[in-house]
Amino acid sequence: MNHQFNTRITDLYGIRIPIIASGLMWLSDPNYVSAAARAGIIGFMTAATFPDETSLRAAIQKCSALSQGKPFGLNIMIRASRDGIDRVNPLIDIAIDEGIKFVETAGNNPEAYIKRLKAAGIVVLHKVPGVRYAKKAEALGADAVTVVGAEAGGHPGVEPVGTMVMAAAAAQSLKIPLVVAGGLGTGAQLVAALALGADAIAIGTRFLVCEEIWAHRRYKEKLVATTETDTTLLLQSLKNTQRALKTEHVSMVQQLEHHNPGDQDILLPHIMGTVGRKAYETGAYEHAMLSCGQGVVFADRIEPLSTIVDRIESEAHIAMNRLQHIYKK
Ligand SMILES: Cc1cc2nc3c(=O)[nH]c(=O)nc-3n(C[C@H](O)[C@H](O)[C@H](O)COP(=O)(O)O)c2cc1C
Repeated sequence: MNHQFNTRITDLYGIRIPIIASGLMWLSDPNYVSAAARAGIIGFMTAATFPDETSLRAAIQKCSALSQGKPFGLNIMIRASRDGIDRVNPLIDIAIDEGIKFVETAGNNPEAYIKRLKAAGIVVLHKVPGVRYAKKAEALGADAVTVVGAEAGGHPGVEPVGTMVMAAAAAQSLKIPLVVAGGLGTGAQLVAALALGADAIAIGTRFLVCEEIWAHRRYKEKLVATTETDTTLLLQSLKNTQRALKTEHVSMVQQLEHHNPGDQDILLPHIMGTVGRKAYETGAYEHAMLSCGQGVVFADRIEPLSTIVDRIESEAHIAMNRLQHIYKK
């Protein structure tokens, strides 16, 4: 394999393969993110996973040591504060202080934070579930954007649009480097995304079965046995649509939501993040709502992250050869 994909994203991060291991709540820790770095891609540790400043600083330092000088970043979730407490700026303080060079923001409008991050020399990748939000992030000065399509695990937006349409529409509208996500997990899909105008793909779900993800083996075995029809959307009535693994718990929440649309007080106790963390610990996925995208169909065995990345890379070369073979004068 002499050929390599050189894009604005591989240049921006100094990575070998145009793939981003996007932030995964509770799961993208130093082991996972440094494995991404060593595999030639870039991963983002989720700041919200760590309970306090000391543990977040320790995680950044550990990730840096394990990454062997290769790039990694921090995922900062921007949430509207219900209690008036600013949870974002303290994370930015830590990122700056610990010398983080790359940040992935998501969840809400980054306007209040982007100038600070950029002034500190941090490269900002903002992740959005729609082209109009991507254009807004571009106007605000984001260095790059990720657009997330309907197939994605996590939050595909209140009006989910399929990745194929999202990618093509975003490529037509944006000037800054573009990352595309949602249901992606094969090398042929990487080539397709690049053909559509993307500079890289981002992956969440496909990587959940890698050995470096600390979650219980029983949960990973479930994902291996899961196909593209085994996920579902819920929480539309809270305007916080989420794609999750179909489980008994998720069916119960969907029933509850059906009868009590938009009722946070009733729904929140059943969808709290700590319920999910417990399921990752015990492997009892039946009792939780766990983000999972349709790309789970590609998660076919438990193996090291670098093996998955290598496979995607060789599949991409096969896809390129196929295109060269069928495209003739
Ligand atoms: C288990 C899980 C947890 C996630 N947690 C976060 C998170 O904390 N912050 C975030 O920005 N995105 C989060 N996401 C979304 C991913 O970063 C990424 O955008 C998405 O997984 C891409 O689509 P895919 O799942 O089809 O690969 C999560 C996704 C999954 C599957």
